[in-house]
Amino acid sequence: MDDSNTLWDAVVIGAGAAGLFCAGQAGLRQKKILVLDHAKKIGEKIRISGGGFCNFTNRYSSAQHFLSRNPHFVKSALARYRPSDFEGWLQHNHIAYHEKHRGQLFCDRSAQDVINMLLQLCQQTSVTIRFPVTVHDCQLIDKVWHIYTNQGVVNSLTLVWATGGLPVPKIGASDKALQFAQQRDHSVILPRPALVPLSLTEKEESSFTQLSGLSVPVVIHSGNKGEHYGQAHFDEDLLFTHRGLSGPAILQASSYWREGESVSVAFLSSSQWQEMDNSAGGKLVENILTLFLPQRLAKHIAQVTALEQRRFAELNRTEKERLKNSVLNYVFHPDKTLGWNKAEVMLGGVDTNLMDSRTMASTVIPQCYFIGECVDVTGHLGGHNFQWAWSSAYVCAQSL
Ligand code: FDA
Repeated sequence: MDDSNTLWDAVVIGAGAAGLFCAGQAGLRQKKILVLDHAKKIGEKIRISGGGFCNFTNRYSSAQHFLSRNPHFVKSALARYRPSDFEGWLQHNHIAYHEKHRGQLFCDRSAQDVINMLLQLCQQTSVTIRFPVTVHDCQLIDKVWHIYTNQGVVNSLTLVWATGGLPVPKIGASDKALQFAQQRDHSVILPRPALVPLSLTEKEESSFTQLSGLSVPVVIHSGNKGEHYGQAHFDEDLLFTHRGLSGPAILQASSYWREGESVSVAFLSSSQWQEMDNSAGGKLVENILTLFLPQRLAKHIAQVTALEQRRFAELNRTEKERLKNSVLNYVFHPDKTLGWNKAEVMLGGVDTNLMDSRTMASTVIPQCYFIGECVDVTGHLGGHNFQWAWSSAYVCAQSL
C-alpha cells in the first residue's frame, strides 16, 4: 500500500467489535478512517461469542456490572451510548434478536449478523479496512502519527488502539496496546484471565468426579473485602466438570477470585433449609436432601458430611450444623484458572486513571485513544463486555 501522501483522521488498530464500531461511527461524521488488523479473518471474537449467537448487550448494563481500578470510569460512556441505542441499531437493520435471561440480548440467527452490520456500516461510511497487516511501530512526529507496518508507513492525526484482550490467543489476541502504553508511561494494570473456569486441587477434584456434568443453581460468594474489586455474589448455575468447576456462577466468581482464596456456595436458600428441617422427620439424610437437590449432589453431601446412614431427626446439634454448612456455605478451594485459552475476557489493561472517560483519550500520550477490552474495564457475564466495546467506541468516535 502506498499511503505516503494520505493523512488519515484516525488509524484504528484492531478490527474487532470496538474497532469496527468506532471506525463506522467516525465515518458517519465524515472522518477519513483506516482500520488495520493483523488477523487473516476479522471479527472472530464476535463470531464465536454467545455460543455463535452473540450476546451483544444487556438491557440493564450499568457501572455495577464492571470491574475497574476506577469504578466510575465507565459511567460517562455508558450514559452516552446505552444498550437501547445498540438495540435500536439492530432494529433499524432488521436483525432478529431475543432476550434470553435477565436482559441478555442474543441474535436469533447468528453472530454473523452483527459482524455484517458492522462491516456494512464501515462500507457505507467509506472506512478502509486492511488485513492481515502487521504493525511494527508507531511514532508521533510533528503532531502526526507514523504507523510502520509490514506493508509500508501510514500517517494519521490520531491513533486508536482497539486490539482487545488476551483470551483465545489463536484468533488474534495480542498485548500490543499494553506494551505501547507502557513504553510511553501510560501505566497498565496487570492482565489476568477472567470469566474463566476454575480447577480444583487433585484431592478435592477427585471427590467430585461423580458429579461431572451436573449443573445446579447456586448463590456463589467470591472475592476479598480488602482487595481492589471487593467481594461479590451471584445467583447463577454452577457446573461440575472433569477439570473442576465451571458454569455461569463460576465464570462470574472467577473475576473476583485470586489464587489462595476459596469460593463459597449455597446450594439451598435459608428458607429451603428451614423447610427441610421442619419436614425431614425420620427420613435418611440423603433421602431428604434428594427432595431439594439433584440425587448425585445429595449423595455427595451425605458422604462428605459422613451422615450417609443417619436419620435427620437423630442428628445432634454438631451434626446438623455440619449438614447446614455444607448446603448453605459449601467451601471450594480452587487452585488456578484454566487460563487464557478458556477465558472469555481480560481483567486489567490500560489504566483508566490516565484516560479521559468522556473520550477514551490517553491523558499522557497525545492524540491517542484506547477502546474496548484493552482498557482496564471488565464486564460481568451477560453482554456487558460488548456493551463496553460499543459505548467506549462511540464516545471515542465522537471526539476524533
Ligand atoms: P476484539 O477481540 O473483538 O477485537 C480485537 C481485534 O484486534 C481482533 O480482530 C484482533 O485480531 C486485533 N488485534 C489484536 N492485536 C493486534 C495487533 N497487534 N495488530 C493488529 N490487530 C490486532 N462478550 C459479550 O458481551 N457477550 C458474549 O456473548 C461474549 N461471548 C464471548 C465468548 C468467547 C468464547 C470469548 C472469548 C469472548 C466473549 N465475549 C463476549 C467477550 C467479547 O468477545 C469481547 O469483550 C469483545 O470482543 C471485545 O471487543 P474488542 O473490540 O475490544 O476486541
